[in-house]
Amino acid sequence: MRLLAIPLFAGLAAAENGLAAWLRYAPLSGAQHFHNSLPSHIVALNSTLGSPVYTAGQELQNGIQSIYGKQCDVHQGHWDAASSLVVGTIDQYKKAYGSLSINPDLTGDGYWLSTEGSTVQILGQNERGALYGAFQYLSMIAQGNFTRVAYASNPDAPIRWTNEWDNLDGSIERGFAGNSIFFANGVVVSNLTRVSEYARILASIGINGVVVNNVNANASLLRPGNIQGLGRIADAMRPYGVQIGVSLFFSSPTSAVQGQANLTTFDPIDESVVSWWANVTDQIYEAVPDMAGYLVKANSEGQPGPLTYNRTLAQGANLFAKALQPHGGVVMFRAFVYNQLNESDWKADRANAAVDFFKPLDGEFDDNVVIQIKYGPIDFQVREPASPLFANIPQSNTAIELQVTQEYLGQQCHLVYLPPLWKTILDFDMRVDNEPSLVRNIVSGQRFKKALGGYAGVVNVGTNETWIGSHLAMSNLYAYGRLAWDPTSDPTSILQDWIRLTFNADPSVINTITQMSLESWPAYENYSGNLGEQTLTDILYTHFGPNPQTQDNTAWGQWTRADHNMIGMDRTVSNGTGNSGQYPPAVATDYENIATTPDNLLLWFHHVNYTTVLKSGVSVIQDFYNQHYAGAATAQTFLSQWQLLQGKIDDERFTDQLYRQSYQAGHALVWRDAIVNFYHNLSGIADKEGRVGNHPYRIEAEDMELEGYVKYAVSPFEAASNAMAIVTSTNTTAGTASYTLTCGTGTYDLAVNYFDQIGGNASYVMSLNNKTVGEWTANFRPWIGNSEGPRVLGHTPSIYLDGHSAIRVTFGNVSVTKGDVLKIVGTPDRIEKAPLDYISLLPVGVVD
Ligand code: GCU
Repeated sequence: MRLLAIPLFAGLAAAENGLAAWLRYAPLSGAQHFHNSLPSHIVALNSTLGSPVYTAGQELQNGIQSIYGKQCDVHQGHWDAASSLVVGTIDQYKKAYGSLSINPDLTGDGYWLSTEGSTVQILGQNERGALYGAFQYLSMIAQGNFTRVAYASNPDAPIRWTNEWDNLDGSIERGFAGNSIFFANGVVVSNLTRVSEYARILASIGINGVVVNNVNANASLLRPGNIQGLGRIADAMRPYGVQIGVSLFFSSPTSAVQGQANLTTFDPIDESVVSWWANVTDQIYEAVPDMAGYLVKANSEGQPGPLTYNRTLAQGANLFAKALQPHGGVVMFRAFVYNQLNESDWKADRANAAVDFFKPLDGEFDDNVVIQIKYGPIDFQVREPASPLFANIPQSNTAIELQVTQEYLGQQCHLVYLPPLWKTILDFDMRVDNEPSLVRNIVSGQRFKKALGGYAGVVNVGTNETWIGSHLAMSNLYAYGRLAWDPTSDPTSILQDWIRLTFNADPSVINTITQMSLESWPAYENYSGNLGEQTLTDILYTHFGPNPQTQDNTAWGQWTRADHNMIGMDRTVSNGTGNSGQYPPAVATDYENIATTPDNLLLWFHHVNYTTVLKSGVSVIQDFYNQHYAGAATAQTFLSQWQLLQGKIDDERFTDQLYRQSYQAGHALVWRDAIVNFYHNLSGIADKEGRVGNHPYRIEAEDMELEGYVKYAVSPFEAASNAMAIVTSTNTTAGTASYTLTCGTGTYDLAVNYFDQIGGNASYVMSLNNKTVGEWTANFRPWIGNSEGPRVLGHTPSIYLDGHSAIRVTFGNVSVTKGDVLKIVGTPDRIEKAPLDYISLLPVGVVD
């Protein structure tokens, strides 16, 4: 596409709080030059208020007015097409204008967009398709793109849904952006404005379904009042062509749901259970006549399911399929089924579970069942191979489950642009029967000729104005929709469309955000767990900060099997869990052998010595050290790159993201140090470059002169520098830590590492010779320079001193004279005893 060089530095929309996402329609200066290239009238071929075509007419009118200042009138139904934009379905067009000279090849939800003649034609295969075409046209003109186009666009797969893990009480599991927009206090909220706004955002990227409640479902969703509430949610989303789906709790029939019969069994083949679900399903369809379907998590992580009655998972799925069949709905049945395991069993492997459970059932699922498969065999880790299940159930419909919410990937407090990760899976060739078998062609239904299939993205938007908790993280939602529509699209060009729409087209803005985003997943992988070792986070608690030892000696099966000499899971057929053998032979052979396993999956498939030499020529342990240092160093550059954007984007979003990048820069060091210290301690092998454990610029808090502060051994040890911190002696009295500086006179950045626990807002004052250098409060809000960021960080908090609560604040360009007394006074608050880890006096350009 050619972009016209027009000055795009728009008078910015009123409040740049993120609410408008990429649909800001920011006015373009110089826009009047393009008035002749724009239509003068809009013809919306359906006058029914609330229909997607009606919505498209309004959206086009508002967009053209807002971006270009051109007022178009909207005509409902037939109108002279010349110098107009006509939006509607193909059928509506033919009815209104008699015939259509072209015959575009459209499938469900597809559209035809032509800007070639005197009429702009936006014609959908259905109404939803027409709305998608309208958003595409608006996306073009909002980017100043007046290229003449005429093309048909069809989605790659029919199912393009989001999953929202919202609970009825208003909380969101693994949500980092506030409370639910759908539920509060056990019921559907009364004001659904945000729900409509969300539907609009989703429609603009081709998403056609939203499962509104958590996969860990609650039977009380099925109370008659809540079913009515679902009707209201569906009404709010319908004008945007977004259908709703719901997650079900398998044992609802026995859950004493108010207003529903209470059975003594939930056995899926029991007649009373079958009619219970048929009846509930009918009730839902009365309130939501176009409900998309159900999502079911059964016999997984403590959830009830058919196995309770020795029925198969297929019998469980088909129970719902049959209830839905008369209404045209689908069952998304999750493949995330696994048992707790014992690590002393060398052959035990959670990664085998999905194939073990589902492969024998292939062919037994009803036609309207779709098996929803997480992208990797474990659980949304920073690097996983594609789930072998994609290759093992050719007779079943499948969908891929991706996570837009960054549960294991920094919880929106670390920048991680996810499409490059997703592409490693979508583009992976399973070589089923030695034929090309890309995962994206399996889930679209093409490879095994299935009618259904597609995408489920766990998004978890919340009431926060940024929707998912951070401005930059929204690129992941945008890209999710774009890739679900066309998984062959290029993550960089998707990203750059998003940048132009979300910020502006200043080349330095585009280049900076592109570079940061593209470096972000590799950086995060490097400092959180490289070589296929999974995200080395605390899997028993927050899933946020580092805590590698939680992976092992648990029944959860996310093991590393790290000991003093060796590390990694042996998933070979020859000596291990046999997981490599779940892949088709051409792939299995690669994973079976160390020589043909890519380094980035080495420890996923093999148990090796720390001294094993990689293809890159360095040892496993040295690569661990090197990559963790490199990843954390890259995270520092995100901050300096972002700083260059001051004045090039609005202050509101600049400041908000600035402190997030500042936070990430500090927390990346926490990650780096925790992981390298942990494995250095375990392996006893020194870092050849002498970095690990060597911190010449740090003053450990426990080495300072303490008054009202005591030393505190942090657990896990690697979450604190030198394993020690200090805390005030009581919860009520301030403590002082002082140190006479021995460094040379000069200008330094003073970085303070402390811990911000939930449940207290301790405050700190740092001074040099009693002159205040900085003051801050540990209240889960990031700090930048001398001011507190306006928003809370949003990641899952911790009540402990650990890798989640560890945080850094930096005060830049401080003049220091040798012999100055550095003092920090910490005032505790409730449980938070003003904990301090260390202070780094960093000469300009040094990071540590
Ligand atoms: C992960 C996640 C849970 C979630 C589960 C699922 O384990 O941590 O919060 O319920 O996946 O996908 O069902």
